[in-house]
Amino acid sequence: MQKIQLGRNGPMISAVGLGCMGMSGGYGPADDKECIATIHAALEAGITMLDTGDFYGMGQNEMLIREALKGGKRERAFIAVKFGSMRGPDLKILGDDGRPQAAKNFLAYSLRRLGTDYVDLYQPSRVDPDVPFEDTIGAIADMVKAGYVRHIGVSEASAKTLRRAHAVHPIAALQIEYSLFSRGIERDILPTLRDLGIALVAYGVLSGGLISDGAEAARNAASEIRTRKPRFSAENFAKNLALVEALGKIARDKGASTAQLAFAWVKSRGDDIVPLIGARRRNQLGEALGALDVKLTPGDLARIEQAVPENAVAGARYLPAVLAHMDSEHAG
Ligand SMILES: NC(=O)c1ccc[n+]([C@@H]2O[C@H](COP(=O)([O-])OP(=O)(O)OC[C@H]3O[C@@H](n4cnc5c(N)ncnc54)[C@H](OP(=O)(O)O)[C@@H]3O)[C@@H](O)[C@H]2O)c1
Repeated sequence: MQKIQLGRNGPMISAVGLGCMGMSGGYGPADDKECIATIHAALEAGITMLDTGDFYGMGQNEMLIREALKGGKRERAFIAVKFGSMRGPDLKILGDDGRPQAAKNFLAYSLRRLGTDYVDLYQPSRVDPDVPFEDTIGAIADMVKAGYVRHIGVSEASAKTLRRAHAVHPIAALQIEYSLFSRGIERDILPTLRDLGIALVAYGVLSGGLISDGAEAARNAASEIRTRKPRFSAENFAKNLALVEALGKIARDKGASTAQLAFAWVKSRGDDIVPLIGARRRNQLGEALGALDVKLTPGDLARIEQAVPENAVAGARYLPAVLAHMDSEHAG
């Protein structure tokens, strides 16, 4: 597995990460045993970055990772935790909490659930509009000084917010949606990351399973997450399926699957990009890892661009009410 540096002065980590969210809900029920086997297979393949959030399964995801890392595997992993997203007992999203004391409190619980003394990358899941972001980052910087956190990341932040955060403490990575269907970051955010020397951790590479040979099955599966993704709506899905089929044709010509083409395309956008593989089964992980052997030529990239021009996708990446609260969607 190729290693890359996470940010200009950051640590060396695997060139792809394993996103563990789906192992604890969002995409329907998961099999814990298979999820743990998937984490083990990822470590065996040389993946170090395991991405989680304290609200994934309301702590269950962190406990699953703890279980998977038992027996001396903790040091082989680079654990990235997101925090601050609040849910009610009915799991409805309540907003975000970026207060300094809340950040420290969230971290204390995460360390206990993960069974570790430190988190490798700690990141506010969203920018809390009611708290100066400098204060949130400052609190995490305190935790770096105290040894509980190794590196600081942010998620779904705008270019302007990235600059503010980076002025308080070096930011190693921005986690944000980036795929053939979600290219909004190319305008301001990606150039800012490169200017500041911050790595990009890309999620949603398959647009929630849409850019895959299993798009129809994904659409029909019970999934709370996909109900928040307009690209799966009755109105948009057929149009998007036509795009996915066009990509599938290119993939087949390369001897690859559609998902592999999607991962290879994101990798082709720069060595500073770490795509997250949202696998919860070993066969999905194997398929995604196969993308590392898919090399796209300038001719392939031109064909892909023609099949899926920027903004060709029908529907935004989230519902408007969700996007309205995302700092990354605001100019600057
Ligand atoms: N920062 C943020 O705001 C944020 C938001 C969302 C996710 N994330 C992170 O990003 C990770 C990836 O999640 P995502 O939903 O964005 O990922 P994604 O890659 O867009 O979609 C993942 C879904 O695609 C389907 N799939 C089909 N073929 C696959 C393959 N070969 N490998 C993997 N998945 C395949 C799976 O559906 P089935 O399992 O249902 O078959 C899987 O649940 C998460 O685990 C989480 O760590 C971060």
